[in-house]
Amino acid sequence: MSLAPDFEPQVTVRAPAKVNLTLRVGPVRADGFHPLETVYQAIGLYDDVTVSSSLTWSVEVEHLAPGLSASHIDLSEVPIGPDNIAVRAGQALTAHHGLSWCAHICIAKGIPVAAGLAGGSADAAATLVALDRLWDLQTSDDDLLAIAADLGSDVPFALLGGTAHGTGRGELVEPVDAVETQWFVVLPSVTGGLSTPEVYAEYDRGEVAENARPDDLLTALSIGSYLTQDLVHNDLTAPALRLKPELESTLALGEELGAEATLLSGSGPTVLFLAMDQGHAQELRSALIDRGHLQVLVAPGPVARAHVVDYA
Ligand code: C5P
Repeated sequence: MSLAPDFEPQVTVRAPAKVNLTLRVGPVRADGFHPLETVYQAIGLYDDVTVSSSLTWSVEVEHLAPGLSASHIDLSEVPIGPDNIAVRAGQALTAHHGLSWCAHICIAKGIPVAAGLAGGSADAAATLVALDRLWDLQTSDDDLLAIAADLGSDVPFALLGGTAHGTGRGELVEPVDAVETQWFVVLPSVTGGLSTPEVYAEYDRGEVAENARPDDLLTALSIGSYLTQDLVHNDLTAPALRLKPELESTLALGEELGAEATLLSGSGPTVLFLAMDQGHAQELRSALIDRGHLQVLVAPGPVARAHVVDYA
């Protein structure tokens, strides 16, 4: 095993969390995945991934911003062995180029874990971009997207960022015009995460919908109208509620406190309130804190894709 000839000693890439403004799930396919009609949006919560060459693959995880504000991020839920998706991303990239180089990957988490915010997918996308830069591999965008799709259904979107229409099992992404900034109040669960496969399996046990292209939402985004409750949707809400009934009261709070819309994020359990603007989002946050919800984040969308923030 030889050490790679680095072009930089280390590279840091920042990757955003995602929300699904709509998530329509069709009947399970023969390969076990579900066909999706979704609109992804990247929001202003980030993980920073720093890579440096090493003789073996290794990963460490820390809080992006240590202190009380990080207590909603349970680092013990992130695997630090070879099954970490960032390590698998690095190995897939080196395999693609026929290389045997390895790296140490440090993940600074600002995205809640197992939350329906695609934090693991963000880490995988960040690792691909960071190693491509560290080793000057010049991987084409098409090849990066193909490697990303093999790693997970949400990983291609983390490479794209902004707002995108997702189809297939979520891995086929087309950029979408979204002219207005949205403000999200983000409520991570304080009673543990939800497993994505378990939520999909629970979906299969309930009423399965047909999924249609979200034309109303795509039009609203392109002309900059407010996102009202009738435009946003998540078919995984009912199964997530069956697995975590306490989410019902959190979702109900959105309407009570005057959110524009309330939405489960991805497969949950994070709950999102949509606000009119940044001031409204901060008001909703204060009201939630008054009600005893101490872990409440505010984030804008759309934001940029996984990108290099530092190299030294
Ligand atoms: O693609 P990803 O690794 O994120 O998927 C995790 C799991 O979520 C899959 O193994 C599958 O159980 C479920 N899933 C699904 N349909 C999708 C995406 C994910 O059933 N479109």
